[in-house]
Amino acid sequence: MQNTELPPVNAWLRALHPYETGKPIDETARELGLDPARIVKLASNENPIGPSPMALAAMRDAAAIAHIYPDGGGYHLRRAIAQANGVSMENVVLGNGSNEIIELLGHCFLTPGAETIAAEHAFVVYKLMSELFGARCIEVPDPGFRHDLRAMLRAITPATRLVFIGNPNNPTGTCIDQDELDDFMERLPAHVVAIIDEAYREFMDEPPDSLSYVRDGRSAVVMRTFSKSQGLAGLRIGYGVMPAHIAQWLQRARQPFNANAMAQAAALAAIADTEHQRRTKAIVDEGRGRLESFLSGAGIQFVPSSANFVLMKVGNGRAVFDALLRKGVIVRPMDGYKLPDWIRVSIGTPTQMDTFFEALAQALGRPMIAPTASATAK
Ligand SMILES: Cc1ncc(COP(=O)(O)O)c(C=O)c1O
Repeated sequence: MQNTELPPVNAWLRALHPYETGKPIDETARELGLDPARIVKLASNENPIGPSPMALAAMRDAAAIAHIYPDGGGYHLRRAIAQANGVSMENVVLGNGSNEIIELLGHCFLTPGAETIAAEHAFVVYKLMSELFGARCIEVPDPGFRHDLRAMLRAITPATRLVFIGNPNNPTGTCIDQDELDDFMERLPAHVVAIIDEAYREFMDEPPDSLSYVRDGRSAVVMRTFSKSQGLAGLRIGYGVMPAHIAQWLQRARQPFNANAMAQAAALAAIADTEHQRRTKAIVDEGRGRLESFLSGAGIQFVPSSANFVLMKVGNGRAVFDALLRKGVIVRPMDGYKLPDWIRVSIGTPTQMDTFFEALAQALGRPMIAPTASATAK
């Protein structure tokens, strides 16, 4: 007979709401009887042009030696990241996606009763990971969908351990400039670590120099990822850059082979492929411009974005998500972010954006004029 008895499950795990991922293409095809090749996924802020060809070649080489364990210390990749950013290898910790860096921070700094701080509309994983360790995430109102850094400072208590700042922030796409960040870092009490999440940094025109805080040995962890601009989301590879006295603890907390060999090889090649990064940004800039003018023309409220997605107010977000899904377009409903009237749409290729424009007009049941793509973007 099956034994259904268990030792007591951690109370805080019972309260945790699992992360809702972007709906996968295959699942959508299966459920709705659609051709997967015709489905457009604009739900997870992925790279619309795929991985860099140089990364693909490196993956093929790495596949041939997949029977060998990865370099657990990630020597070549950490060295390349350090060189590209003017820091030292000791400052770089690799993660199984930058999500794992958040988890490692939890292992190092969070216990039941501890507190973290995030903006009210921030990446939900900050809250999830806090709850995973029994900590409480204080969500600070973000008027106009912008971080109120002074209010976040005021929310700090003796129990606060981590403050999360998404820059650009997901799901709002808004960002913080150098002066605001400098002011925040200046006032941050010594017992708190600032986590500056730069998953979408490459899409900004003028990103602040957040690594200066790391170079100065301040309590800051800058998180970055190969999932977005470098198109390697499926491989799960990201990193944190932080002062060595913080990095040593994350290195101690991680699994010995947390960054797999193929991901390390692909990421190393992707760093060198500046042309792929340039093309990605150009496609996103153009697609976002078209999307924002489409929404303005249709009188649909949206949040001007510095990232590869746009948050827009469409009425009943879940119903619009469902209607778009039936037309083979996957977007992200925002009820999980306490924004039931909104959806978040990632920037796709010009053709994918055309499909979205048409599907949204049909879903909302009114004619809407789609701006044409430039010849270069096509
Ligand atoms: C703001 C933000 N941070 C971190 C991540 C995690 O990215 P990954 O684990 O793929 O590196 C995401 C993914 O969507 C994100 O939106």
